[in-house]
Amino acid sequence: VYLVGAGPGAADLITLRGWALIATADIAVVDALADPALWDGLPIEIVPAGKRAGDHGMAQDDIHAALIALARAGKAVVRLKGGDPFVLGRGSEEALALAAAGVPCVVVPGVSAAFAAPALAGIPLTHRGVADAFTVLSAHLADGGPALPPFDPRATLVVLMGVANRALWLPALAGLGYPADLPVAWIEWAGRPHQRVLRTTVAHAAVAADAFALKSPAVAVVGAVAGLPPCGVEAP
Ligand SMILES: C[S@@+](CC[C@H](N)C(=O)[O-])C[C@H]1O[C@@H](n2cnc3c(N)ncnc32)[C@H](O)[C@@H]1O
Repeated sequence: VYLVGAGPGAADLITLRGWALIATADIAVVDALADPALWDGLPIEIVPAGKRAGDHGMAQDDIHAALIALARAGKAVVRLKGGDPFVLGRGSEEALALAAAGVPCVVVPGVSAAFAAPALAGIPLTHRGVADAFTVLSAHLADGGPALPPFDPRATLVVLMGVANRALWLPALAGLGYPADLPVAWIEWAGRPHQRVLRTTVAHAAVAADAFALKSPAVAVVGAVAGLPPCGVEAP
């Protein structure tokens, strides 16, 4: 089983290695966020296993069982996951389940939305003299909720899966020392034609996200880098 990172949105942001594997595999078990253009016209069977907020898709154990059964049936299997398989995507659980079943698993890294979504919006996560570190975290309640770090003026905070419970974690920033005027950016559907970018501040982020009708998937960037002039073109 090839555990392949699909990249952050646009089909051509997959790696060459990942794409070559899709082009030659028998079957792909795919996440909801993978762009269907990746397998368009290819003679490959597609099994949707996607999970989106409020929709649980295939249970994780069923995904493990399906991957193991397909591999044992002699199929060349691609497990295609959004972004990078080992960044907040349960890819490592799948790799461990395959190993426990004695099924060889090869990991092909992907371009994570954690840094690609900001880049596609012209926001660098580090910038000399502004930020020299970044923290990436999940705000998903099932992952234990957002483990927000205290404010560090030299570090950028990147929040994944933070749309649905934004009313929980955005107001908590002030109590952790984040200044009210600190820039915040949301990048929604990064890399797709309908990508949208919302630029706001800690004080206004929750109200602004409501007014923007922000939807998942989106990445939040909290820090001074989100207030730099756009570094590059905003829309793909
Ligand atoms: C389950 S995590 C998977 C992350 C993935 N493994 C990665 O490395 O990008 C899903 C979250 O990634 C972010 N995400 C993934 N694709 C995105 C996109 N095209 N635009 C904006 N955010 C995206 C969102 O925060 C979404 O809730």
